[in-house]
Amino acid sequence: METIILCVEGHVATLTINRPKALNALSTQVLTEMKEALLEVERNKDVYALIITGAGDKAFVAGADIAEMKDKNVEEAALYGEFGNEVFRMVETLHCPVIAAINGFALGGGCELAMSCDIRIAAENAVFGQPEVGLGITPGFGGTQRLARLVGAGIAKEMIFGARNIKADRAYQIGLVNSVVPAEELMVAANKMANGIAKNAPIAVAYAKKAINDGLQLDIDGGIAEEVKQFSACFATEDQTYGMTCFLEKTKEKTFSNK
Ligand code: CAA
Repeated sequence: METIILCVEGHVATLTINRPKALNALSTQVLTEMKEALLEVERNKDVYALIITGAGDKAFVAGADIAEMKDKNVEEAALYGEFGNEVFRMVETLHCPVIAAINGFALGGGCELAMSCDIRIAAENAVFGQPEVGLGITPGFGGTQRLARLVGAGIAKEMIFGARNIKADRAYQIGLVNSVVPAEELMVAANKMANGIAKNAPIAVAYAKKAINDGLQLDIDGGIAEEVKQFSACFATEDQTYGMTCFLEKTKEKTFSNK
């Protein structure tokens, strides 16, 4: 792969979008290689958490590739939108938690990619925005849907209609990111969080992710039913017996087997 670097250390994988000269803009090649990398992570059940970040110190992702989009017709634009959304849904539904380590511009498709992740950690120099209407288009990789769900319709509309970027502190204030850290501490913080998650029972974490994500699309009774389904399914795992036995026997150091 030319535009994606995937590395795995212990139970944590890191996917770096590596097209810094174009501020990691999401060309079809980037999306195609990202899909390939995500399939590889999905197949590797020893990966308990994934970090997504951008190469360089300037951008996480500065959006979909404007040069590539400029001459598309309606049908081609629909295919591009569908493909971007397919890849981002893969991020959202990946078996393990995904942490976005946002190291600079997260604009358009970059903000949308961050929102497809489960948790967002931003460097102090990160900038967020959905500038699409300034280019004559709407957000196309899930921005109208996920931003409104994350920060509420009013603030999402203000950001999308105004096409104005916001800084990391404002992104934190509106709940768009979980935390803001100095740029040089970003990957340390992301790895610390990922390794912390990876210490817990991976199947339980995966089921919790599914319960939250699927439940959010349902009414409260449907959501509770989904939780009961995931909760009870944990009792078919070795890790449930092990985790509870460790508690009762006062064993502090645990190593879950992912079974
Ligand atoms: N697509 C293609 N190329 C891009 C790009 C993008 N989204 N963003 C940056 N680049 C390229 C620039 O064209 C430039 O290339 P050259 O060196 O060959 O000229 C290079 O990256 C560096 O960018 P700048 O010179 O512009 O850097 P800057 O520091 O002056 O500005 C910036 C940085 C404010 C992020 C500016 O690059 C910018 O505004 N980028 C576009 C942001 C944007 O509008 N994103 C939304 C895209 S539409 C979208 O994402 C639709 C969707 O939802 C699917």
